[in-house]
Amino acid sequence: MTDGNKNLLRVLKNQMPEKIPFWLMRQAGRYLPEYRELRAEAGGFLDLVYHSERASEVTLQPIRRFGMDAAILFSDILVIPQALGQNLKFETGEGPKLNALTSQEDINNLDLENIDDVLNPVYETVRLTREKLSGEGFNNTALIGFCGSPWTVACYMIEGGGSKDFAKVKKWAEESPDSFQSLIDKLVASSIHYLSKQIEAGAEAIQLFDSWSGLLDGEEDFIRWSVEPTKRIVNAIKDKYPNMPIIGFPRGCGKNSLLYARETGINAIGMDYDMDKRWAAENLQSLVPVQGNLHPETLLKGGAALEKEALEILETFSDKPFIFNLGHGVIKETPPEHVQQLTDIIRNFER
Ligand code: CP3
Repeated sequence: MTDGNKNLLRVLKNQMPEKIPFWLMRQAGRYLPEYRELRAEAGGFLDLVYHSERASEVTLQPIRRFGMDAAILFSDILVIPQALGQNLKFETGEGPKLNALTSQEDINNLDLENIDDVLNPVYETVRLTREKLSGEGFNNTALIGFCGSPWTVACYMIEGGGSKDFAKVKKWAEESPDSFQSLIDKLVASSIHYLSKQIEAGAEAIQLFDSWSGLLDGEEDFIRWSVEPTKRIVNAIKDKYPNMPIIGFPRGCGKNSLLYARETGINAIGMDYDMDKRWAAENLQSLVPVQGNLHPETLLKGGAALEKEALEILETFSDKPFIFNLGHGVIKETPPEHVQQLTDIIRNFER
């Protein structure tokens, strides 16, 4: 099968393959015992990310068990801040910690010139994974590369990690928009470079994670900080690689997703679990193929609840190009058997 015929890639070209493709955000991760084992061997999370051989194994683990239609590169959106010179740590059970940017000088000091010194192992992971996918006969599984959207990455860079209210980043963007723009510009440039290198190493599609776009509730802010930077990245990638499909995932942005789908140039849009399915099928899916949006808590529960919600999603979206996914990442307590149950439901579904 030629690569462009992989079911997931066909949906991204707005086609309707016979079977509905699926993958799951965070499909490689702590819910899998084989992941926990390799992570322990590596030491920490970042040691795993920058060890190309182990990272490629982790990328393939869920594919070997469940045969998803996409493998997503095992890395993190925060490798970009680290490559730009910001200190990054993942402490067990606590999430990411960065030394927060606090001044324009901190932004000026971010160094775009040498990011590949840090990121080269990630490109090698892409290359190795692509090689293993075909070597192991996963000829219908597409390899997805990714990065965070500038707004979301800036959130972590300014807050120094996760946050309840993201007050610092909101204040910076509101009170000093030109200064904030200079950070966004650096993130746009580094993301274009980073994605181009992933594509050259073998990524067949790209996903942009805008996990915090929902914080931008006003239309004007949403356009300036989510839509515009995304559009610049999409345009630059499409200039170099006209056929490269790009999925955008503007989490939590509700009806602003229409604006995002119309204005950014992405090929498909990821829907979070709060997205109203009927509304999305009628309004969003008529603009672009959609991806989503099973609640990760329902996957955690399994059983009849999982069957009901999964079938409802399949019935709602299967008349037009659609990729089944979660509305956010797999929760680490999820039993792998529930992922198998979901796989069977999707594979047995006939539209
Ligand atoms: O399977 C995959 O989805 C591919 C790998 C991947 C990871 N992170 C691995 C990871 C991807 C695509 C991401 C994206 C990512 N990283 C996002 C966007 C998606 C989202 O969740 O909204 C964000 C915001 C991050 C930043 C990040 N990384 C946070 C906030 C955390 C801590 C929360 C947590 O789940 O522990 C991480 C850690 C992380 N990234 C883990 C994994 C598998 C867990 C690390 C571990 O093994 O302890």
